[in-house]
Amino acid sequence: MCGIVGYIGGRSAVPILMSGLKRLEYRGYDSAGVSVLKNGDIEQLKAKGKLSILSSILKDKPLRSRIGIGHTRWATHGAPSDENSHPHMDCKKEISLVHNGIIENYLTLRQELEEKGHKFLSETDTEVLVHLIEEYYEGNLEQAVSKALKRLEGSYAIGVICKKEPGKIVAARQDSPLVIGLGKNENFIASDIPAFLPFTRKVKHINDGEIVILKRNSVRIFDLDLNPVEREVTTVHWDASMAEKGGYKHFMLKEIFEQPRVVTDMLSGRLKEYSVEIEEMKLTDDDLRKINKVIIIACGTAFHASMVGKYFIEDFARIPVEIDVASEFRYRNPVVDENSLVVAVSQSGETADTLVSFKNAIAMGAKSIAVTNMVGSSITRETENMIFTRAGLEIGVAATKTFIAQLVAIFLLSLKLGVARGTIDKEKFREYHEALLRIPDQLSDVLKKAEQIRNIARKYYKCDDFLFLGRSLSYPIALEGALKLKEISYIHAEGYAAGEMKHGPIALIDNLVPTVVVLPRDSVYEKTLSNVKEVRARSGITIGITNKTDDPLDEYLDETIFVPDTSHQLSPILTTIPLQLLAYYIADKRNRDVDQPRNLAKSVTVE
Ligand code: F6R
Repeated sequence: MCGIVGYIGGRSAVPILMSGLKRLEYRGYDSAGVSVLKNGDIEQLKAKGKLSILSSILKDKPLRSRIGIGHTRWATHGAPSDENSHPHMDCKKEISLVHNGIIENYLTLRQELEEKGHKFLSETDTEVLVHLIEEYYEGNLEQAVSKALKRLEGSYAIGVICKKEPGKIVAARQDSPLVIGLGKNENFIASDIPAFLPFTRKVKHINDGEIVILKRNSVRIFDLDLNPVEREVTTVHWDASMAEKGGYKHFMLKEIFEQPRVVTDMLSGRLKEYSVEIEEMKLTDDDLRKINKVIIIACGTAFHASMVGKYFIEDFARIPVEIDVASEFRYRNPVVDENSLVVAVSQSGETADTLVSFKNAIAMGAKSIAVTNMVGSSITRETENMIFTRAGLEIGVAATKTFIAQLVAIFLLSLKLGVARGTIDKEKFREYHEALLRIPDQLSDVLKKAEQIRNIARKYYKCDDFLFLGRSLSYPIALEGALKLKEISYIHAEGYAAGEMKHGPIALIDNLVPTVVVLPRDSVYEKTLSNVKEVRARSGITIGITNKTDDPLDEYLDETIFVPDTSHQLSPILTTIPLQLLAYYIADKRNRDVDQPRNLAKSVTVE
């Protein structure tokens, strides 16, 4: 997730671009850049690091112009660096472009363009697009953009300027956000409304597959074939802080609602007919065949994703998997050798315990993979094998979308191991492939239950203790549900393997304790249902999350939240969402500081 902005009008462009980027910093901030048209040339400045670094460079070297584009980056292809920062330019330095999204077929396009003599300066997927536009440019920017976009697979929101056509910005979108701000004798593009909110509240929303030509006094929208399209103007009434959260009350809620998009991005370009392509992972199939043990280390929510990962890997690749919280692993004397694969899962890539444990295992000879959301983070310096979780910046301290992205990452890794080792056949692979592709829409369906879950939260938010139960793949999800609730609402919540109930926790049950049961239709459904009955028999309140619609569940459950059917291995992705929403609505009802709960930090860089 990156942020793009553009301005054309009568004022000085750079301060407007910089103020827009500042408001989009929540979308990412590992590097930033602007480019403007000045005296018939393109001038640009870009720098690795936070926007403040670019600001101070601009103080020394001001760029004066009335048209420009800007970008704040959250790396997906190529580590944060000056070269990989946007804008990117073509070979002749006549066209400049900013992009948010992922170009899936960029390697093929890059090869084709290099064969034609184009010189690339960065490792990004984006740079291919500006060279492609250059290739098609015959004096009309929108025509070149239209031709180039038709060659792309993937997602994009772009802004493009060209020195030969200094009176226009061309923008376009496909599966990445783009809005147009309409001013008086000035117009704006941005990934999100807050970027131009200080200047205008009049907005045109752009749909997928549309191209926009912005001039100082006009905004015209076209389809990809450049046929004109009409769009009404809407007026935004949000204040700046609401606008930044996309109209949601908290970042956490916004991030929960981003999850369908996150899964789409996670899968983008990675699933082929009978293979999984993870470009940032260098291990070969031969390496993967030699592994005789996998060790997954992580903390907190990432550890829960790792627990699910154990089921995936053992099931698909038939390799024994050991999982451990990093703060324990680092003080054990684990058995690790060159045939072990250590996988560290860390959203931030900076968690001290995870980092040290990872380094220790690598020092003992293990092969290594880091699953992280932060390209360029410390953990990525320890290994040449990564799986980036492409969730975009997560601002809410409680992890939500990055957890779902971690589950998908480990699922993909398990499939990859299974294919390399011949433990998963083509037919099974195809089934999982198809099931994965359905997940984004199914997640959107689960999110439609938000109002029902909010009502459940209103009923039970005063309870002081909650239990969460699940078996098999749903056990880590129960743990995650309990963790979410306790960290943002400060309610005591315990997650248990459902079968452990009668070994102690059942003593806690009374009519004031809600038990939330993760109950998908799988091979352990009946067993978990008997645990629900045990809770009911002791007057406990029961809240169930299930996809089993043909049972009279009302008999056993006070509240039932239905999720769509999927392959049972993928059910954790769907059953997690109601738990996130339940925790969120309970915490909000209790007036907690949802995005910054007390005593917690987003990144735990000390032991
Ligand atoms: C809980 C949460 C934490 C993190 C943990 C590990 O919502 O966010 O439990 O999962 O601190 O952080 P990373 O993944 O950055 O290593």
